[in-house]
Amino acid sequence: CGIVGYVGPSTPSARPLEVVLAGLGRLEYRGYDSAGVALVCPTGLETAKRAGKLTNLLGELEAHPVPDATAAIGHTRWATHGGPTDANAHPHRVGGLAVIHNGIIENFAQLREEVRADGATFLSETDTEVVAHLLARAYDGDLTQAMLAVVNRLEGAFTLLAVHEDVPDTVVGARRNSPLVVGLGEGENFMGSDVAAFISSTKRALELGQDQVVTITPTSVDVVTFEGDSVQAREFTVDWDASAAVKGGFDSFMDKEIHDQPKAVADTLLGRTDASGDLMLDELRIPETVLRSIDKIIVIACGTAAYSGHVAKYAIEHWCRIPVEVELAHEFRYRDPILTPRTLVVAISQSGETMDTLMAVRHAREQGAYVLAIVNTHGSTIPRESDAVLYTHAGPEVAVASTKAFLAQITACYLLGLYLAQLRGTKFADEIQETLQELQALPDKIQSVLDDEAAVREVAQAMKDEPSFLFLGRHVGYPVALEGALKLKEIAYIHAEGFAAGELKHGPIALIDTGQPVFVIAPSPRGRDQLHSKVVSNIQEVRARGARTLVIAEEGDEAVVPYADILFRVPQTPTLLSPLVAVVPLQIFASELAKAKGLDVDQPRNLAKSVTVE
Ligand code: G6P
Repeated sequence: CGIVGYVGPSTPSARPLEVVLAGLGRLEYRGYDSAGVALVCPTGLETAKRAGKLTNLLGELEAHPVPDATAAIGHTRWATHGGPTDANAHPHRVGGLAVIHNGIIENFAQLREEVRADGATFLSETDTEVVAHLLARAYDGDLTQAMLAVVNRLEGAFTLLAVHEDVPDTVVGARRNSPLVVGLGEGENFMGSDVAAFISSTKRALELGQDQVVTITPTSVDVVTFEGDSVQAREFTVDWDASAAVKGGFDSFMDKEIHDQPKAVADTLLGRTDASGDLMLDELRIPETVLRSIDKIIVIACGTAAYSGHVAKYAIEHWCRIPVEVELAHEFRYRDPILTPRTLVVAISQSGETMDTLMAVRHAREQGAYVLAIVNTHGSTIPRESDAVLYTHAGPEVAVASTKAFLAQITACYLLGLYLAQLRGTKFADEIQETLQELQALPDKIQSVLDDEAAVREVAQAMKDEPSFLFLGRHVGYPVALEGALKLKEIAYIHAEGFAAGELKHGPIALIDTGQPVFVIAPSPRGRDQLHSKVVSNIQEVRARGARTLVIAEEGDEAVVPYADILFRVPQTPTLLSPLVAVVPLQIFASELAKAKGLDVDQPRNLAKSVTVE
C-alpha cells in the first residue's frame, strides 16, 4: 500500500488535501485497489474513500468537497484482508480518530474479539479497523502515547498513520517491518511509504528504524522507540529528481522508463572507476579480506530482480570462478540454506522494501553470511539492514512492470563481478578494462534498439489477439526469455512461458502447434563456443513443427535469417553483456501489446510494485 501524511499550512497553492493527493498519485504504484484520505479540519475530522483507482476518490472529493485541513493522511491500498470495497478502503475511523495501515496484523482476530466484547461494532473486514478501535480506546489527549500503547499489542508487520480531530496539527506514525520515511520541510513535514511521496516538496528526509513511532507537527519531528525512548533518526538527502517521476510526453510510465534505460545504465556505471581506470566500489563496506575469502555467492530476489540475478550468475561465475546460486527470496528463507561467514548473499530489489527479500536478508545475516544489497530506492529498509549496498541509479520507477531498474540491476551485478575479479585477480587487468569499455558502450547500443521500436510495435499490434507466447533462450538468453514472458503476463495478461532452449525437447515442444508464436533470443554468432549454432537448431526444431518464430539476433547474424518469420536486430554485443540489449525489444513488445488490448500498462490488475507483505 501507499501511505502519505502531511502537516502544514493551508495556502492557496498547496492545501494539505492536495499535497496528500499528489503524494498518493506518486505512490499509486504501491497498490490501487482503493484509495482514501482523512483530514483534520476546523470543523472536525473528514474522511473520504472509494474502491478502485485514485481517480474514483478524486471524483468523490469533487462531488463532495471538504474544507481546508491542517493535517491529512492518505492511502492507496493493495488488498490483503477483505476485498477491494468502499468499506474496506482506508482510512478507518472511530469517532474523531482515523487510521491508515500497510501490512498485516497477525493477531487481529483475537484483538477484534476483545474490542467487540467491549462494545465496538465493525464496518469492514480489514485487520486495520481493530487498530482504530484500540487507538480510540487508548487515546486520552496524547496521540503518541495512544500509539505506543497500541503498537506493543500488535503482531505482524505494519506502518500505521493516525490523526485525531483534537490535535489538529499532528500526524503520528509507527513502523514495524513495513516502510515509512519522514520528509522535512520548512513549516511543514511529511511522511510517506517512500520518498516519492514528497520529492516534489523536499529533498531532506529521515530514515526511521525498526519499531519506532514518529510524531510530526509543522515545526517538529519526534522519534521514539516502541518503549518510548527518544531516538536521533538519520537524515539523508534524496537525489531523485521530481521531474523523473512524470510521464514526460509518453503514453505510459512504462514507455518512458523503457526510454530512460540508456541513462539508467550510464548513471549506474558513472563514477565507479578511479583515475587509473580501476573499479572502485567504495560503497562496499565489506572488508576486502572478506571479499577475497568468499567461496559462494547466493543471489536472492523476487520477480524481475531475480532474473537480473540469473544474468549475474553467468557473468560472476565466468569472471570470478566463484559458485553463484540464484534463489527466489521466499524459497530461500524457508529451506534452511547453507550459509557461512564466507558466503556473500546479494539481495537485489528495486524498491528495497519487498518483504520476501527483506526476510531473506535477515535470515542470511542471522546465519552469519555477509549481505550486499543492490537497491534503487534510497532510504528503504533492505540497504539499511544489509552489510553493504550498491545503489543502482535508475531514478524513480513508477510503472509496476520493471524495466529500467532491471537493466540497472544487471549493470550493477556486472560491476560487482568485475570488481571481485579485480580484487581476487581471477582476470587480467586488461581483460577487466576491456569489458568495462564494452559496458560503457551499452547505453548507445540500447538507444539504437529504441530507435527501431516502431517495427517491434507494429508486430505487437498485429499479434494482440494471440492467446499464448513462448520464449526460448540459452545461457544469458535464458533469463532474458523468462523476463520477456513475465512482462507479457504482467501487463498483457497473456499466457507466456520462458524456457531454456535446450529444455524444449524434454517437454515444452509438445506445446508447439501450427501458428504458435515463439520468441527466440539468439546469442552472438561471434562467441567462441557452439551456443549460437545450438540455438539456430532450436529455431529450426520449433519452426518444423509449425511455430511462428520471432527472433532477436545480432546485426550481421545471417544464420538465423532463413528460420526467422520475424527478425528483430540488436547491435553486436559480447554474449555476457547482451541481456542489456536483447530484453529491450521484449519490453517494447509487451508494452505495445498491452496498449493495443486497451489495458492499463502502468497499473496491471492484481499487482503492486512494492509488495511489503509475505
Ligand atoms: C513485485 C513487482 C515486480 C517486482 C518484484 C520485486 O512483484 O510487481 O515487478 O519485480 O515485486 O520487486 P523489488 O522492488 O524487490 O525489485
